[in-house]
Amino acid sequence: MKKRVAVIYGGRSGEHEVSLRSAQSIIDALDPEKYKVLHYLISKEGKWSPRPIVPEPHGNPEIDVVFPALHGTFGEDGTLQGLLELAGLPYVGAGVLASSVSMDKEVMKRLAKERGLPVVDYLVFSSAELKDSDGICSKFEFPVFVKPANMGSSVGISKVHNCAELKSALELAASFDRKIIVERGIVGREFECAVLGNEDPRASVPCEILPSREFYDYDDKYLLEKAGTVIPANLSAEQTAELQQLAVECYRAVECEGMARVDFLLETATNRLFINEINTLPGFTSISMYPKMWEHSGLPMPKLVDRLIELALERHAAKQHLRYSK
Ligand SMILES: Nc1ncnc2c1ncn2[C@@H]1O[C@H](COP(=O)(O)OP(=O)(O)O)[C@@H](O)[C@H]1O
Ligand SMILES: [Mg+2]
Repeated sequence: MKKRVAVIYGGRSGEHEVSLRSAQSIIDALDPEKYKVLHYLISKEGKWSPRPIVPEPHGNPEIDVVFPALHGTFGEDGTLQGLLELAGLPYVGAGVLASSVSMDKEVMKRLAKERGLPVVDYLVFSSAELKDSDGICSKFEFPVFVKPANMGSSVGISKVHNCAELKSALELAASFDRKIIVERGIVGREFECAVLGNEDPRASVPCEILPSREFYDYDDKYLLEKAGTVIPANLSAEQTAELQQLAVECYRAVECEGMARVDFLLETATNRLFINEINTLPGFTSISMYPKMWEHSGLPMPKLVDRLIELALERHAAKQHLRYSK
């Protein structure tokens, strides 16, 4: 019997188009001998076609397993995962908790710090606190990065070089989230590492990102096609091992399952590695680094999607004996 895989894609976030491309690569990698693909497209307005997933247990008998191929808000942040929990469906990737805490850059940093993992110094502001941007200004050495706590694809992020630039950067970030992070800018290099697994997560060979702009912004990620990537990353064996270990520890700190991509900054002056962020539904397009890193680690895309589906089913099976009342 073929497994019936519901691939959900599109979605309401700014990463709608990226999601369409991720879904296409995932569908191309699903072996038609083993899987029957069911399409679930969510429009930018949030409308599902040809049908929605219903939140009732056993309400979706046509589906064996769900592969969410959505990025960002309402896809990667735990909301969709909540719907799939209500529906009692097995699904690929992180659960509700890991999805939502990983989406929030500030909560993620707090969890990492609690485990002694290195993250860059930062301050957090609510949009109400931003009125005093001059007071905020005196707190920092420049450059700093200003970010909405919950976003992706570098949307709403600015690199700020002086006090004069701070106000508009805070306003921009505040238009995307009520919680804003201001963090120390790291002068150095940027790396990514793929992690895969439930109880026993493994890290891939890491890659280096070479932004073509002042930082890895939206245009650089999706429009310019000028950013370079080096895979495996040119790091010493010790530094590769350290980065992989930090990736796995960060994955565990947010209680992730299934998969995630952990991103790093390496400060040139100190040679120190910092965890920048963790993405629980990383890009899966034909040029995305998550599948590429696994390919370089001996797991080509068809095997990777097999493994992700296996992990989804294992996690679902492990929960079946749990009781939800006395
Ligand atoms: N503290 C920092 N120091 C240096 N560069 C940073 C810092 N924070 C972010 N960046 C740059 O901005 C990019 C986007 O920031 P990131 O936190 O990864 O947000 P997103 O979730 O939108 O990808 C990074 O890939 C990196 O190029
Ligand atoms: Mg990033």
